Order: sequence, then C-alpha cells, then structure tokens
Amino acid sequence: MALLCYAVVVLLFATVVADMDYGGVPLWINRFLGEPSVLSLQGRMDPAWFRANNPQACPQQCECPIQWPTALYCDQRGLTDIPDSLPDRTQYLFLQGNNISSLSLSGLANITGLRWLILDHNQLQSDKMDQLALQNQTKLCHLFANYNHLSSVPSALPTGLKQLRLAHNQISSIRPGAFQNLHNLTLLLLQGNRLKTITEGDLKGLVSLNMLDLSGNMFSSVPRRLPPSTQQLYLSNNSLSGLDKDSFVNLLNLKYLRLSHCGLQSRSVHQQVFNVSSLVELDLSYNKLTAIPTLPTTLQYLYMEANEIREFSTKSFCREVGPVSYSRMKILRLDGNKMSHQQLPPDWVFCLRVIENIYI
Ligand SMILES: *[C@@H]1O[C@H](CO)[C@@H](O)[C@H](O)[C@H]1NC(C)=O
Ligand SMILES: *[C@@H]1O[C@H](CO)[C@@H](O)[C@H](O)[C@H]1NC(C)=O
Ligand SMILES: *[C@@H]1O[C@H](CO)[C@@H](O)[C@H](O)[C@H]1NC(C)=O
Ligand SMILES: *[C@@H]1O[C@H](CO)[C@@H](O)[C@H](O)[C@H]1NC(C)=O
Ligand SMILES: *[C@@H]1O[C@H](CO)[C@@H](O)[C@H](O)[C@H]1NC(C)=O
Ligand SMILES: *[C@@H]1O[C@H](CO)[C@@H](O)[C@H](O)[C@H]1NC(C)=O
Repeated sequence: MALLCYAVVVLLFATVVADMDYGGVPLWINRFLGEPSVLSLQGRMDPAWFRANNPQACPQQCECPIQWPTALYCDQRGLTDIPDSLPDRTQYLFLQGNNISSLSLSGLANITGLRWLILDHNQLQSDKMDQLALQNQTKLCHLFANYNHLSSVPSALPTGLKQLRLAHNQISSIRPGAFQNLHNLTLLLLQGNRLKTITEGDLKGLVSLNMLDLSGNMFSSVPRRLPPSTQQLYLSNNSLSGLDKDSFVNLLNLKYLRLSHCGLQSRSVHQQVFNVSSLVELDLSYNKLTAIPTLPTTLQYLYMEANEIREFSTKSFCREVGPVSYSRMKILRLDGNKMSHQQLPPDWVFCLRVIENIYI
C-alpha cells in the first residue's frame, strides 16, 4: 500500500512539473484538421510503445504517436538544437522545455507543411535566430516561444500566422513593420516583457487581432494606436501614471479590459475614460482608486476589489433610471475597500436591476 501511494505521488508530481501554461491562454483544438489534443506525451505512455506501434520514420530524439501521424513530440529532453531529418509529414512540432538557443535557416527547411511550432521554455536568443528561418513556412499558424530570451520580435514571420505567443521574454521594442503582413493574426501575447512604448506603425497590419496581452511590461501610459479590432486588452501589472479621456477611444470593439495592479489613482483617471459602449468586463482590482468611475450601462462584470473606495454613487452605473435605462451589471466586486453595505444608497436596486452577485 505504501509503495502504491508513493507511486501515485511521484506520478502527480511529474505531471505538475511537466505542465506548462503556454502563455496562459488555452489552445482550441480542431479535430477535423487532425490537430493533436495533447501538447506533450511526457509521463503518458512508455516511449517504446510508440516506437513499436508506428512504422513511420521518427527521429531518435522524438516520439511519433500513431494516432497523430503528423505530430512530432520532441519536448523536454535537453535538446540544444532542432533534431535533424525531421520527416516531411511533420505539421505539429513540439520542442518545448529544451535548451535550444538558435533557429537556423536549414533547421526547418525540409518540412513544408508545418502548422504549429511550439518552442516554449527554451533559450532562444534573437541574435541566434536566422532572419529568414520561418519565412517559407506558409502553413504555419501557431508559433509559441514563451519563456525564452528573445529581445525582439522574430523577423520575416509567415503571413498565415493566427497565434503568436511571445510572453515572458526580454522584448524591449518592436521593429516598425514587424507585423505588417500578419492580416490573419488573432492572438498576440507579449506579457512579461520589457516594452515601454508602442509607436506608430509598430502594430500596423494586425487587422484581425482580437486578443492582445501586454501585462507585466514597463508601460507608463496606455499605448496609442492599438489595432481597432482588439476585443480583449490586458494591461495589468504596468505602472500607469493615469488614464486620459481618449485612452481607449479608437478601440470600438473593446469588450474585456484588464487594468489590475497598475497603481491607478482616481485623480489621474479621467471620469469618462470607460465610456466605451462595447465594454462587457472591466478589471480595476488592486489599484489605489478612491471612487468608482463612470461606467457604460453595457458593463456586466466589474472587478474593483482591493482599492480605497469610500463611497458608492448610483450615478457611476446609471446616468438616469427608467424602463430601459438601467445597468446590465451582473457581478460587482468591491470587497477589500473602505466602504460597507450600509453605504449603499437606497436607489441602487433600481439601477443595478439584473445584478447576480455583489461583494462588499
Ligand atoms: C540547459 O543548459 C544548461 C547550461 O547551459 C544546463 O545547466 C541545463 O541543465 C540544461 N538543461 C537541460 C534540460 O538540459
Ligand atoms: C534535408 O534534406 C536533405 C536531402 O534529403 C538532407 O541532405 C539534409 O540533411 C536535410 N536537412 C535537415 C536539416 O534535415
Ligand atoms: C524559401 O523559398 C525560396 C523560393 O523557393 C528559396 O529560394 C529560399 O532559399 C527559401 N528559404 C529558405 C530559408 O528555405
Ligand atoms: C488568411 O485567412 C483566410 C481565410 O481563412 C485565407 O483564405 C488566407 O489564405 C489566409 N492568409 C494567409 C496569408 O494565409
Ligand atoms: C501581477 O503581479 C502580481 C504580483 O506580483 C501577480 O500575483 C499577478 O499574477 C500578476 N498578474 C499578471 C496578469 O501579470
Ligand atoms: C458616452 O459616450 C457616448 C457616445 O458613445 C456619448 O453620447 C455620451 O454623451 C457619453 N457620455 C458621457 C457622460 O460623456
């Protein structure tokens, strides 16, 4: 029995160690395209089993499971280079958790149908990436290089990319035009880098961008000229000096906005900055706000916990109260502030008519 428990503990531990966050956004799998539903085979099955059951050629350093004939799992085995002789059939290449620092021109030259390239948790350096290494990968749609040592966005990115995940690197600037042909890119993760500004033209071309994560960088103000298609904008963990009236004004599709841990103070936050009628969810938790700003009536989720709010004004949620003018707020978090239930004015129930949960 003791031995069995020990085995279970070891197994659990191994699973946790092997678990990666891939930039924190789940990957949606399209089985109709033959996309594999696991990103790693580590700890799942005996490698010898894969070899014995798959007659296809497979590089020595990798695993080639028969159920996903176009996937190649070469993750977490201390590789310092991309393996040689990658089979031409390879569409899904898993190389996360290795020691790869460079990407050469020839490394991927023999495969033409690559769709996913997963390089999280390696030691990739920008000066060791060949400028044109990815240029010919016309089928590539997901490029993951979270947790590496990149100091700039890789160049000559293939134009079919849909997801580019570069979280937790050392990227301090974006070359003008770096994204200019990426018309199909919907997700761009750049959290945990060293960006201070985004200048005119930096994000030009990202006409389909939906989600942009810029959390944990060095921005002191909200970057201007973000793609107007953006629906999810994450800017938490930047020390923002304030918010202007027009900080989000060109973001006509903005639905989810995260600004927690930004050191925001009420006196430097413009009262009307969140008057964005597309907004559904707003996270302002862990700031130094003393008042609730004016909010659009479309807002459904507001997180303002751990601020210094002293009062509740119904006017923040409803400019007027009438048969059709009321707040759509469902979840309201005001816990960890300087106010209590008693401070809710009597008229709040007429304004917050569809509220499901309110935490004070
Ligand atoms: C990666 O390389 C470093 C030194 O260059 C070494 O200490 C480390 O053990 C290597 N990691 C793996 C997984 O091989
Ligand atoms: C690519 O294919 C050529 C010809 O088959 C071979 O000589 C070369 O070693 C291959 N390169 C890599 C990196 O696998
Ligand atoms: C890309 O394709 C072009 C045209 O086929 C070829 O000349 C070039 O060498 C290729 N580049 C790489 C990095 O494979
Ligand atoms: C972008 O997506 C569209 C629609 O899926 C597709 O037709 C087009 O070829 C893609 N563009 C590139 C450069 O892959
Ligand atoms: C922000 O920083 C806090 C404290 O360091 C951390 O707990 C949190 O996970 C970070 N959040 C994001 C979105 O980076
Ligand atoms: C909020 O914006 C709308 C236009 O989107 C405008 O009509 C309205 O006057 C603004 N409200 C305030 C209080 O500024």
